[in-house]
Amino acid sequence: MIRNQWYAVLDSKEIKKGKLLGVTRMGEKLVFWRNTDGAIGCLADKCAHRGVKLSCGKIISGSVQCPFHGFRYDTSGKGILIPANGRNAAVPRNFKVPSYPALDAHGLIWIFWGEAKKLPEIPWFDNLGSDFSYSTVADPWDAHYSRVIENQLDVVHLPFVHYNTIGRGNKTLVHGPLAELEGSAIRVWMRNAVDDGRTRPAKPSQIDKSSSPVYLYFIYPNIWQNVISDDLRVMIAFAPVDEAHTVAYLRFYQRFIKVPGLKQFVNWIGGRGNIRIAHQDRRVVETQQPKPSGLKIGENLIQGDNPIVLYRKYREKLQKKR
Ligand code: FES
Ligand SMILES: [Fe+2]
Repeated sequence: MIRNQWYAVLDSKEIKKGKLLGVTRMGEKLVFWRNTDGAIGCLADKCAHRGVKLSCGKIISGSVQCPFHGFRYDTSGKGILIPANGRNAAVPRNFKVPSYPALDAHGLIWIFWGEAKKLPEIPWFDNLGSDFSYSTVADPWDAHYSRVIENQLDVVHLPFVHYNTIGRGNKTLVHGPLAELEGSAIRVWMRNAVDDGRTRPAKPSQIDKSSSPVYLYFIYPNIWQNVISDDLRVMIAFAPVDEAHTVAYLRFYQRFIKVPGLKQFVNWIGGRGNIRIAHQDRRVVETQQPKPSGLKIGENLIQGDNPIVLYRKYREKLQKKR
């Protein structure tokens, strides 16, 4: 996993008012909650006193109280009360639990997994505004998040994995695709075709962006969008759990139906469709070895895999930068 990045790690609705949430993300056991101002706390789920899970405790006046001896911590992880020492006693500095900056934005919970002094902006799509409505489904995968992301940049698998859904039509010949890196984002334009036995795949440079309205849009480290049309999108946030597990937050976004009630129903149907397609991918991707991807993992790649190569190269660059 790449250090010093904002990661979408939960759906906002998973952190309920007045409740602690203990989950594994980024290979670490973490506790999340909302304080009285609505700010999000994200601490290591381990009390600095004698190692109990803080997520088994309570929220008292916006701080987390350990269930064992009642020590309390604020959202920065600083110890603010040791009841046994008395309410007026100062809390020594070593009573501190590691914490990550956390925010609630775009209906997702983000943590800055790192130690930068000045925090960068949260990554988000410039083409996905609040005029869209959406539904979310949380889908657990037994796969490293890099493999789940690569699957969403893979245009070669469509006629095989999705032969009866989005890959119908036996378009096995892969032109391009064209994959471009812009800042920390990758965009992919594709054109798959039925193989007539005479046509050779076009080079990536021969793909005409303007004639392929559908494109893929990924922003490092972990959000992706399929731009299906101006008014219809699929978005996925790939929350890293550990080296072998990911939770994919799948979202169906649309802005062609705005009528309350009908809108939610359409979004729900869209969400069901997303899950059906994602599960066609999941059963295959979960079998990939090794679990995390990388540039030198002994795979043999083809022209059609070029978005995956680009993803791996920039990922490695970010990993080295840390
Ligand atoms: S272990 Fe948490 S207060 Fe003692
Ligand atoms: Fe797929």
